[in-house]
Amino acid sequence: MLLKESSLAGKRVLVTAGANGIGLAITRGFIQSGAKVLICDVDEKSLREAQANLPGVMTTIADVSDEQSVERLFEQVDAQLGGLDVMINNAGIAGPTGTVEKLSLAEWNRTLAVNITGQFLCARLAVPRLRKGNKASMINLSSAAGHLGFPGRSAYAASKWAVVGFTKSLALELGPEGIRVNAILPGAVDGPRIRAVIAAKAASLGQPVEDVARIYESQAAMGSMVSVDDIANMVLFATGDFARHVNGQELVVDGYTQALS
Ligand SMILES: NC(=O)c1ccc[n+]([C@@H]2O[C@H](COP(=O)([O-])OP(=O)(O)OC[C@H]3O[C@@H](n4cnc5c(N)ncnc54)[C@H](O)[C@@H]3O)[C@@H](O)[C@H]2O)c1
Repeated sequence: MLLKESSLAGKRVLVTAGANGIGLAITRGFIQSGAKVLICDVDEKSLREAQANLPGVMTTIADVSDEQSVERLFEQVDAQLGGLDVMINNAGIAGPTGTVEKLSLAEWNRTLAVNITGQFLCARLAVPRLRKGNKASMINLSSAAGHLGFPGRSAYAASKWAVVGFTKSLALELGPEGIRVNAILPGAVDGPRIRAVIAAKAASLGQPVEDVARIYESQAAMGSMVSVDDIANMVLFATGDFARHVNGQELVVDGYTQALS
């Protein structure tokens, strides 16, 4: 269930990769709270569906790992939102599954290009706009794999630890100006993406998919995966007035997970 955060009414929000999964839930939460939201994605069909299902949402195609594409994205931010109060760096890919000697350089580079370089490319164009914004803040999506080791997913874990270091550095740079920057670290979020990750892991280990799914569910102390709305609600809290002094934090939403396998 999505909560409503009244202090977000009228905020101008950019959500990267807003057409599916967590990004779509975050977008729904902001719209429901009265914010103006622009989403970007590489998936044109899903963008069209999001526009049809979420009245008022603005959309544009953009690949966060591509410098020129991100420049065009921020031209749309200016044209469609007329400024920026909240930057949500949500775009991220699962990356390759396999022990380190089996990973290709291309897969490694692609994972870092989307998951961390994409956040850098967006942040450096967002910050000058956030400076002119209203109680501005930024959220960077990391993962439980951003503070734990993740066997078989070293590229993803490396990229998500990088997100935490990036977030804390920006929080120190921008805190004096009143701009808050926090990372959100979701545990396994139930949905099509995690089901694909589980299937890939099962194939790489030669184990039945159901066995690997059970491991994912039982690794949280609360015994289940989290939902996209659980993550969206944390985003709404962290960008709203209740969190006005929450800065530079790893906001973990995972039912308490101590190890990933
Ligand atoms: N799902 C999980 O279990 C989980 C757990 C922890 C962290 N996360 C993180 O949350 C974020 C969102 O994940 P999700 O599960 O909603 O993913 P998802 O796969 O459901 O959706 C990802 C979206 O990103 C878009 N996308 C992919 N590459 C892009 C690019 N280069 N530029 C712009 N858009 C791009 C896709 O088209 C898709 O719409 C990611 O950063 C992910 O690493 C997810």
